[in-house]
Amino acid sequence: MSDTLTNQKAYRAINFAEKLALFDDQWQARVVAEMNDYQFKVVRIEGDFVWHQHADTDETFIVLDGQLRIDMRDGFVTLSAGEMFVVPKGTEHKPFAEREVKLLLVEPRGVRNTGEETSERTAVNDLWI
Ligand code: NI
Repeated sequence: MSDTLTNQKAYRAINFAEKLALFDDQWQARVVAEMNDYQFKVVRIEGDFVWHQHADTDETFIVLDGQLRIDMRDGFVTLSAGEMFVVPKGTEHKPFAEREVKLLLVEPRGVRNTGEETSERTAVNDLWI
């Protein structure tokens, strides 16, 4: 019984606020965890993104802090902290934040943030923090 404690591994929680405090640049998502082929990424964004779509995958936006608007060609959704939205695959979308918003993105490994488009907003993939 006594060595049960000494054999305990120190599992650590992943804290989104701690991860976000490690960087202050915007638009460059950082991977904090993987689940099977999916990645969980934190990112800070402010201003307008580019219209794009992901032909092969849905994309999940979870707002951790701030407010996010996601425009689609036939409407839009506004998300506050504690809210999430799944953009269906093949749906054109354009995220927008009037003030900086902190997000958790969930999507398969290897997905480009700007879809088929290449722009100044195209970010490095698979960057871990
Ligand atoms: Ni997208």
